Formats: sequence, structure tokens, C-alpha cells
Amino acid sequence: MDRFNGSARLMIVSDLDSTMVDHDDLDNLSLLRFNALWEAYYRHDSLLVFSTGRSPTSYKKLRTRKPLLTPDITIMSVGTEITYGESMVPDTAWTQYLNQKWSRDIVTQETAKFPELTPQSEKDQRPHKVSFFVEKAKAWEIINVLPKRLEERGVDVKIIYSSGIALDILPQGAGKGQALAYLLKNFKVDGKVPMHTLVCGDSGNDAELYSVPEVYGVMVSNAQEELLQWYTQNAKNNPNIIHATERCAAGIIQAIGKFFLGPNVSPRDIRDFQKCKVDTFSPSHEVVKYYLFYERWRRAEVEKSEQYVQNLKLVFCPLGIYVHPSGGEQPFHQCIDSMAKLYGDKQGHRFRVWVDRISSAQIGSDIWLVKFHKWELSGNELQCYVTTVLMNLKAELPDGFSWVHMHQTWLDDSRARDQTVWCF
Ligand code: GLC
Ligand code: MG
Repeated sequence: MDRFNGSARLMIVSDLDSTMVDHDDLDNLSLLRFNALWEAYYRHDSLLVFSTGRSPTSYKKLRTRKPLLTPDITIMSVGTEITYGESMVPDTAWTQYLNQKWSRDIVTQETAKFPELTPQSEKDQRPHKVSFFVEKAKAWEIINVLPKRLEERGVDVKIIYSSGIALDILPQGAGKGQALAYLLKNFKVDGKVPMHTLVCGDSGNDAELYSVPEVYGVMVSNAQEELLQWYTQNAKNNPNIIHATERCAAGIIQAIGKFFLGPNVSPRDIRDFQKCKVDTFSPSHEVVKYYLFYERWRRAEVEKSEQYVQNLKLVFCPLGIYVHPSGGEQPFHQCIDSMAKLYGDKQGHRFRVWVDRISSAQIGSDIWLVKFHKWELSGNELQCYVTTVLMNLKAELPDGFSWVHMHQTWLDDSRARDQTVWCF
């Protein structure tokens, strides 16, 4: 959480299913476009928050199936569980707070009186979230009757209906919007309120997010009827909320542009990087750019030109050494020659590369230490390389800098890994 001092430039608070993640996009292209944008331009000074209806277990499962970045904060189970950082440290003050006027037992007893409520699976039931499936026609009646009955028994709830099927019963103080308001309140205490906040969603449980004061909001193009209806009834005149014309993560990128929140062209959408040089040296931008080139080279989506190989040899210092996860070492230029030979070996295959958690520190007058996770998906094989790089600013080089050392380790080295491929 304390990756940087001061306020975040932008905080994105996004739902996952059908917002950040497009389940109809098997190639995950819009998510990968978002990832490249975030890591290149935002990671170093902005906050990424995922706010999902999923339980921690099912959220973690989604992360193994989709190329999701590591968020700074994760809000799960419809705003009832908040965790911080990669290690997902729970916010126990929030759970304590949700215990007010809440009794899971009483909720279970009262809901049992409605046969039309079908309980969701056990794994979707959480300490502060009791979830059912129910048809739209029946849902409204329950939403009108149940809270009063529970109130008579000292339990104060909020009922949320999503995707025309899911009904969640939560403590009154819970929900995605309340959880965000709580985070903002804590940031205020620390004097670190983000300069801008953008909330992103598609269904009923996201509606609350748009009511949080001073946030920008995007409903992705594929938003559900109940969210659009909520918008028409409650927020139609709010110019800071848009209904994107693009689906899922592409709609988020669209909103960043529409509200002028910062760079909105994903490096993934740039074919010729010569035409898009940044003014000041940015290690993260360089890392994202290099791995896009690497992916395109192996997919044969760039021209097979010796010029590219020669350019790489200028950017990768001739004396530089690559330390492979197996522990072996090779000079950079030898690795580049190996990579050159792999041109097009993944053409027509499922092959994607993305980076996560880029951080960099200037450790000398012209030397940068850059760390990130490089993910490579090939067929059904997913590998993560924890990577450390030294970069050197050198005005006399065409790109103004060079990579001088690189070390990779496997994130999870319990399985046998391919030790034959020597490109980074
Ligand atoms: C997610 C959860 C489910 C919940 C729904 C709507 O799909 O898994 O339990 O009912 O979101 O909030
Ligand atoms: Mg959703």
C-alpha cells in the first residue's frame, strides 16, 4: 500500500466479472490492453482496486484463469471483505464494523421462509454475505418485505440484486460503495485522498459505487439492465458518469480518455514504437514495450527484419549478462540471437506475454533498478518470471538508455521448467 508517498494520481476501482474481465473474449485482448496501459503509465503512482462479488477463493481462482494484474487493494464478497497488497492482508476493522446489527443466523432463519429463494453454493456464502438465486419477478417482493422482518429481530440489512438472478443480503453498512467510502475516509485521515477516482462496473452490485461523492464512473457497454435502470432513475444528470460504447476493460480505457484522467492509448495499440517515444525516460514504458515486441516477434506480427535484431543489440548492452532462472548465465547478445531464431514459432498459437507489478528505483545518477513479474502464456502453460533489471541512462545511445543486467527466477519453482529457452 505504501508504494509511494502522497496521493495516488488515479485510483481505479473496478468490478471484475464482465467489467475488467470479458468472459466472451477468449483471447483477453481488452484486458491485456488495459494491463499494458496500467503498467506503462500508472502503476508507479496510481492505485488499482478490484471490487468483486466473488469470495476470496473464487477470486483467486479467476486470477489463475485470466491475466489479471495484482491490485493494491481487493474488495471481495460485495464489499464485505477488504484486503491490502499482494499478500492480501485483511482489514479487520472493517469486519468488526460490519458486525453491527448483523446476525447470519437470523438472516438464514428468515430467508428460509421464502421457498422461491435458492441458496447459492456454500463457497459463495460468507460471514457477512448470504446469497441466493431468485427470479426477477420474485426478487422485488422479497426486497420489500424481508428487511422489515429482519429489523423486527434487530438485524439491519441491505439487499442487492444483480445480473437478473443473484440476490445478496449484507449488513446495512456493507456493499461496494460503502467499502469505497470507507477507503476514501481512511485516505483522508492520512492526507492521501487520490487526485481522481474512477469506478467501473456492469451490474446491480456496482450501482452503489457511482453514488460515492466526487468519483468518475463508467458503466461498460455491456452493463446489465438493472444497472442502467438504476442510472436512469438516480444519476442521469451526473456528467461524471458515462455508459461506454466499448465492452469491459476497453470501456474503462475509454472512460480514462473521456474524463482526461491521464494517458489512454495502450502500448498494445501501438504498432510502431519509433513513432511513440516518450519525452522523459520511463523504465516501465520500456519494459512494456520490449515484451510487446517479444510477443509480436514470436507470433510473427512484426516484420522479420534484421534491423530489429540490431536495434535490440544497441538497447541491450554487449557486456550485459542474463542470469536464467536455472542459475545459468549467458551474455545478452547470445540470448538475442536465440530469440531471433524463434521468429514466428508461436504464429497461430495461443501465446501472450504481459508484465505485472513493475517498480523502479533510481539507485545512482544514471542507473535504475527495475523489478517486475513477466507472465508468459503458451498454449495452456503459464509461467511467471520474477525479473530484476539494471538499466543505464546513456545519452549517446539511440534510445538514450540500455539494459545492463537481468536476473530472472521462477515465481513457483516447484514444477520442472523448460530450461532450454534462453530468451528473457
Ligand atoms: C458474484 C458472487 C455471488 C453474488 C454475485 C452478485 O457472482 O459470486 O455470490 O451473488 O456476485 O453480487
Ligand atoms: Mg460484474
